[in-house]
Amino acid sequence: MAAVSLHGVVKRYDDKHTVIHGVDLDIRDGEFVVFVGPSGCGKSTLLRMIAGLESITAGELRIGGRLANDVAPSERGIAMVFQSYALYPHMTVFDNMAFALKLAGHKPADIRAAVERVAATLQLTPYLQRKPKDLSGGQRQRVAIGRAIVRKPDVFLFDEPLSNLDASLRVQMRVELSRLHQELGTTMIYVTHDQVEAMTLGDRIVVFSGGRIEQVGTPLDLYHRPANLFVAGFLGSPKMNFLQVEAVASAPDFIAVRLPSGDIVEVAAGGGDVARGTRFTLGVRPEHAALLPDDAEDAGLLPVQVGHVEFLGDQAIVYVSMAGVDDMVAVRYLSEQAPPAPGSRAKLRLPPPRCLLFDTNGNTVPAPELSTCAA
Ligand SMILES: Nc1ncnc2c1ncn2[C@@H]1O[C@H](COP(=O)(O)OP(=O)(O)OP(=O)(O)O)[C@@H](O)[C@H]1O
Ligand SMILES: [Mg+2]
Repeated sequence: MAAVSLHGVVKRYDDKHTVIHGVDLDIRDGEFVVFVGPSGCGKSTLLRMIAGLESITAGELRIGGRLANDVAPSERGIAMVFQSYALYPHMTVFDNMAFALKLAGHKPADIRAAVERVAATLQLTPYLQRKPKDLSGGQRQRVAIGRAIVRKPDVFLFDEPLSNLDASLRVQMRVELSRLHQELGTTMIYVTHDQVEAMTLGDRIVVFSGGRIEQVGTPLDLYHRPANLFVAGFLGSPKMNFLQVEAVASAPDFIAVRLPSGDIVEVAAGGGDVARGTRFTLGVRPEHAALLPDDAEDAGLLPVQVGHVEFLGDQAIVYVSMAGVDDMVAVRYLSEQAPPAPGSRAKLRLPPPRCLLFDTNGNTVPAPELSTCAA
């Protein structure tokens, strides 16, 4: 097992295309870290640089404390699993898994024992004599993972390993990967586009954009306290709603803002002396926007028009609009009352502690307790 640390790591192609702009990241020994970010932001490039499949233009990569920039891939103690599992088609499952150990010159009896142990863990024992073409996609992906495990690497790198699998297999493999991490305790770095994989597998999630880190934190940190508009909009499904607002009053523990509809909403954000008229973006997650019947009478409820409704079994995704705001999304859990009918009117509550404000630079206005601590 090994820690992985990156300091000022840069990747530049042809002396001009910089795709990784000085990444600093410390991954602890045994940690499960997930990389997410839009397509093209540099996740695979960074992973391949850690594996030694791409050179490092500048900065330092340390694996287990040792400077690894110029260490050969085979000497880094790393195993990588890709989206396209690229098994050797002419070899059996056993031989695919044994291949690296044979190359490394291990004794046949040791190889057999290692492969059989890993095959049992991954429930591949019945398939050891089959060829890859006679396996399902999930079984093939398990062989690819098994092939990586038998080498007992210090660090696993996964680049979207489950994205070729169907939905139910992904869920099954996700649980198996999580179990495997608990059992092996090996450091794992995992790239995914899947929100659920990121939230459920990661001890920490790293959000990238344009070759830079936007935020590093635990899944709950990132969900509840995104550092900026980008992270807030990137994590969460359906996406966070964003509304353009302006301040009308503030106090140390709240900022009152005017929505495009003219309604006033108080947000639990470190206000202090925010000038009237200061512009912000208000963010609220669909699952926190509470949709109430039209006859609800509480203060602070916003009248809305119900548009499209999507039923997902236990919940409904309801699109609502109000003056100046089209298509806000609210999730309604169906154990509560039935969702309002399309075309009807309803009331929306934006709970102050669940709303976030972002300044015009896109940075999150800190929560009140944070600003009090800082004062
Ligand atoms: N040889 C190259 N020369 C120039 N640019 C390159 C080269 N290889 C990759 N890139 C660029 O590097 C950037 C990062 O690519 P990378 O594959 O790391 O993205 P990614 O985050 O893994 O995306 P995806 O989610 O689509 O897999 C992209 O903009 C890509 O076009
Ligand atoms: Mg990629």
